[in-house]
Amino acid sequence: MSSTRPVEAPDLLAISNLSLGFSTLDGPVRVLRGIDLTVRAQEKVALVGESGSGKSVTARAIMGLLPERRTMASGSIRFAGRELLGRPAEAEALRGREISMIFQDPTASLNPFFSIRQQFRTVIARGGARHSAEAAEQRMRQALRDVSIPDPERVLGSYSFQLSGGLNQRVMIAMALVNTPKLLIADEPGTALDVTVQEQTLRMMRRLSQQNGTAILFISHNLGVVRQFADRVYVMYAGALVEEGPVQRIFTAPLHPYTRALLASVPRLARPTIPTGIEGSLPDRLKPIQGCAFRPRCSLSISACASEVALVAGAEGHRAACVHVVPPA
Ligand SMILES: Nc1ncnc2c1ncn2[C@@H]1O[C@H](COP(=O)(O)OP(=O)(O)O)[C@@H](O)[C@H]1O
Ligand SMILES: [Mg+2]
Repeated sequence: MSSTRPVEAPDLLAISNLSLGFSTLDGPVRVLRGIDLTVRAQEKVALVGESGSGKSVTARAIMGLLPERRTMASGSIRFAGRELLGRPAEAEALRGREISMIFQDPTASLNPFFSIRQQFRTVIARGGARHSAEAAEQRMRQALRDVSIPDPERVLGSYSFQLSGGLNQRVMIAMALVNTPKLLIADEPGTALDVTVQEQTLRMMRRLSQQNGTAILFISHNLGVVRQFADRVYVMYAGALVEEGPVQRIFTAPLHPYTRALLASVPRLARPTIPTGIEGSLPDRLKPIQGCAFRPRCSLSISACASEVALVAGAEGHRAACVHVVPPA
């Protein structure tokens, strides 16, 4: 629990007991169910789970990007000690400065009506510090060189539709990092593009986090990639966190049957089988969930799984919400 950590080492991002739902024409949908998640300064944290589990909603909640009138939320999202939940002005003030986000599809966040230079200038202006036109130009070029763009001048004068997907992706990363944010949220970056671009993106994010000390919340459904990248991992299922721990433990000694199923669905080079995915589907979010949400798909389910299951602490900050997890003596 974040509250039991020493006060002198505060978390950069601390989400506690966050529940969130949307009102829809079919009634209220409960999307997040009491999640606790922290990211410390300079840490690389991964949030994994199948598509539809609530990862992007979590990211958008941090960024203050959810439709206010249709969203019901409770709990807390603190960034550097400041509450963001239900305070859109606070989140807006941090966006693009202290917290940046990169998305699945770079073209979705670049505007086809403005040149890359025009958009980049706006981003730099958001950073707060005043720059002469010449200094801004220097910063843009350096930011593009930092993401291995050899000809910044050409790229700055282009429109997004004139550039390849890979170049747009680099531009988006350069824009996200030019104001040296403390936290970068990367939501399945580059997955709309090809595998090489995804790999380049990860390499760049790793290098830039080393250079600038940027903490990263990396969202992915690809566990193979997460293993290479993250220090710590959270596993989300149907809007709740079912397991968390240091990356090595999650991969070598997973505790939750859902995490094990996810791992089993990762294809291995040595045994190239087609990943089958996990049998069954996520529960209907219009209906309330009682007990462990994974129960209908779990081969280990017993009657106790129908009651509320708490996160049980294992060794080294490893925790899982499963009745079969026995705390160490
Ligand atoms: N604006 C919205 N209104 C209603 N339901 C939504 C909205 N955004 C997301 N959802 C629902 O929330 C759930 C989680 O979505 P999402 O966070 O996008 O999943 P993930 O990123 O893990 O694939 C899904 O069931 C999705 O349909
Ligand atoms: Mg998503």
